[in-house]
Order: sequence, then structure tokens, then C-alpha cells
Amino acid sequence: MSSYARRALLRFLAASPFVAGIGSVSRVLAEDRALPTASAADALDVFDLETAAQKVVPPAHWGYLQSGVDGEATLRANETAFSRYALRPRRFVDVSHIDLATEVFGAKLASPIFFSPIGSMRAFNPEGEVGVARAAKAKGALQILSTQASFPVEDVTSARGAPIWFQLYTTNQFEVTKKLLKRAESAGCPVVAVTVDTPAGRNTVTAARMRREDKRVCANCHAVDERGNPRLSANTKPMFGGIDMQGVGLTSASLTWDFIKRLKDNTSMKVVLKGIEAGEDAQLAVMNGADGIIVSNHGGRATETGRGTFDALPEVVQGADGKIPVMMDGGVRRGTDVYKALALGATAVGIGRPAAWGLAAYGQAGVERVLDILNNELRLAMIGCGARNVHEITTSSLVDRAPTDR
Ligand SMILES: Cc1cc2nc3c(=O)[nH]c(=O)nc-3n(C[C@H](O)[C@H](O)[C@H](O)COP(=O)(O)O)c2cc1C
Repeated sequence: MSSYARRALLRFLAASPFVAGIGSVSRVLAEDRALPTASAADALDVFDLETAAQKVVPPAHWGYLQSGVDGEATLRANETAFSRYALRPRRFVDVSHIDLATEVFGAKLASPIFFSPIGSMRAFNPEGEVGVARAAKAKGALQILSTQASFPVEDVTSARGAPIWFQLYTTNQFEVTKKLLKRAESAGCPVVAVTVDTPAGRNTVTAARMRREDKRVCANCHAVDERGNPRLSANTKPMFGGIDMQGVGLTSASLTWDFIKRLKDNTSMKVVLKGIEAGEDAQLAVMNGADGIIVSNHGGRATETGRGTFDALPEVVQGADGKIPVMMDGGVRRGTDVYKALALGATAVGIGRPAAWGLAAYGQAGVERVLDILNNELRLAMIGCGARNVHEITTSSLVDRAPTDR
């Protein structure tokens, strides 16, 4: 079969409602369109970097990165949700100057694309979050650092050369939470993004499965339990250094909306809620004093809702009612995805896995390449739709249609 015919068949299968849910089809498609890359510059889209990354990341770490939860319907929905809208080009607009710059909480960003927090990034490349910070510095991008990062907030801030945001796991002991807040604040973080989408566990099947396939000895790098399985608990992470971790869990199932006030009473950082997906919760976030929202389902790694974050964005924007900025992440793989999210009211758009693919494949250069690719695709979408700056990106560019394969 010719490669054209093979690709056409795979696209047909992927578009079919009967097989679209089968991960292997979309994976084969991704591999099919990916090119071999000898350097970051060879990558033509973020999927080229995904393919390059998979070649160098060991199975257990790859499973950690790529995993969704349960049957991964949410993971897939995040990516496919963007296809609900087509773009509606406009002509004879002077698009000789396109400005991607934006502002969040008064801070200038070169583009609306930011780095969402990812834990343990040294599992993909020794440069880890410091490599991401250097790329963010080179490109003027916002970086959010995970509580679970492989490097401490001070090192990453220094590599970024400007303030970064700190992602907070609430923990189950407020004294520990306060210490994390103080440390992030002292490092100069202006914003804490509190992750609220995983109050009590999750079922990352792919991660567990790929850990079993990995024949390396975890004890060479990780603390392990009596069966040789890695202890992936928080207490080995630098942000918990010097804290007594006896009985400390990353999250707590008993938190309610008054937690925002508790946080605000203990920090001068702005408090952004990461993981809001319902309009009512957006209203409650505003009422309870949150400064911003990130619509997120943890990249399909929290509840298996089957709903993409892009589909949740409009109701959250409506619930926030323009009172606080609404950002989003989940499944963003193209500049056109970013364009569509901005058109529906997002202030900025986060990427998780694509940055990790770039990092894994080529370190800092790979992360920079991811941003260049997505920013260029966004710029071209803006040119085509006659939007000269991010403020000119509106719903008038969107045409609603039944979801199809991209
Ligand atoms: C390997 C991995 C680790 C993550 N770690 C964190 C984390 O520590 N804290 C957090 O709030 N979100 C975490 N996330 C979620 C991301 O911040 C983000 O919401 C998600 O990756 C966006 O989806 P995308 O990967 O499809 O771009 C993680 C995601 C992945 C894939």
C-alpha cells in the first residue's frame, strides 16, 4: 500500500466513531506523520518531537508522561475538542504586522502560550525544569513550576531570570502548605496556581502498565519499596526539603471553598485555581476571592470525564463573567488550538506534554522549538483570520461544526 493510501486509511479509521476511541490508531497516525529529526530545528510540528522523545525516554517514564486515566477518553477528548470549530478567514486586512504579545496580571508575555506545570521533569532529560526555564527566558514565556518539580523554585527562577508562577498541591497539612507558600513567595513568585482537580487519587493505567514493561532497576535512581517499586511520593522532591514529611499527603479530600481565604490570609501571591471545569465553580471562585482560573483536567489525568477542557471553557468564561482572567490547558497541539481557545475567551493557553517532548528530545533547544512551532502556527492563523493582535481574536473567527478528525 502506498504511504498516501495508508495515511488515508488511517485517517478514515480515526474519524470513524467505532474506532476513534482506539488509542493505537491515533498513535500510529502520529508516528505516520512524524519525521526523523536529527536536531530540534528539524521538527516541523510538535508530533515530530513526540516521536523523537519516545526514542530516548525509558518506558516507565514515557508511561508517566503519556498516561491519562482509566480508558483515556478524557485525554483523547482534550485533543479532539478543538475540531468542533473551524476557522473563518477574512481578507484584505493589513496583516503585515502581527503581535502575539499579551499580559497576564500586568506581566508582559511574548505570546499567550505558557508552560503548564509538570512534575519530575528530570525523568525526561537531565536539564529538567531548568531547561524549560532557559527556553522560557529565550522566548519571553511564562513558566509554572510544579510542587513536584525536580529542581527547587530558587534554581528555576534564577534560570528564568524573571518571576515564575508556583503550582501548589494543597497537601493535607496546612503548616506544610504555608511553608511551600513562603518559599515560593521568597523566591519572587507573584502567583500561586492551586491545583484542585485531584482531591483524592486517580487511576493512571498506562503509567502502571509501562512501569511493568520497564526492566531497569528503579533503585538505581529512586528510593524503592520492599518490592523494588519506586517510591514516587512527594517527600523526595526538592520543594519539600527541610520539611518534616511524616504523614504528609500531596492533596486533601476534605477541602472546601473557604480554602481560598485560608491561602489568601497566608500569602501575598495572587491565587489562581487550576482545574476548574464548571460554570458554577467559576462563579464560586470569583465569590470566594480567587484571582484567576485555569480550566484544566490535568491533561486527562484527573477524573475520567470524557470531556475536553476546550468544551468546558465557554461555561467557565461565562461563570467568571470577565471579573478574573480565565486560562486553559489540555490537548493543545497546534497554534490553531490556541487561536480557538483565545477566541472563546481564554487569556492565555498552557501546554504540558509538548514541552516535555521537546525537553526529552533536545533539552532547552527542543522546548524552544515547541514554542517556535506553536507560535508560528498561531501567527499564521491570525494572519489568515485577519487578527493583528490577540485582542482581535474573537468568536467571529469560529464556525461551529460537528467534531471531526483534524
Ligand atoms: C507528566 C505530567 C505531569 C504533570 N504534573 C503536574 C503537576 O505536578 N501539577 C499540576 O498541576 N499539573 C500537572 N500536570 C498537568 C499539566 O499541568 C497540564 O494541566 C496538562 O499537561 C495539560 O495537558 P497537555 O499535556 O495535553 O498539554 C502534569 C501533566 C503531565 C503530563
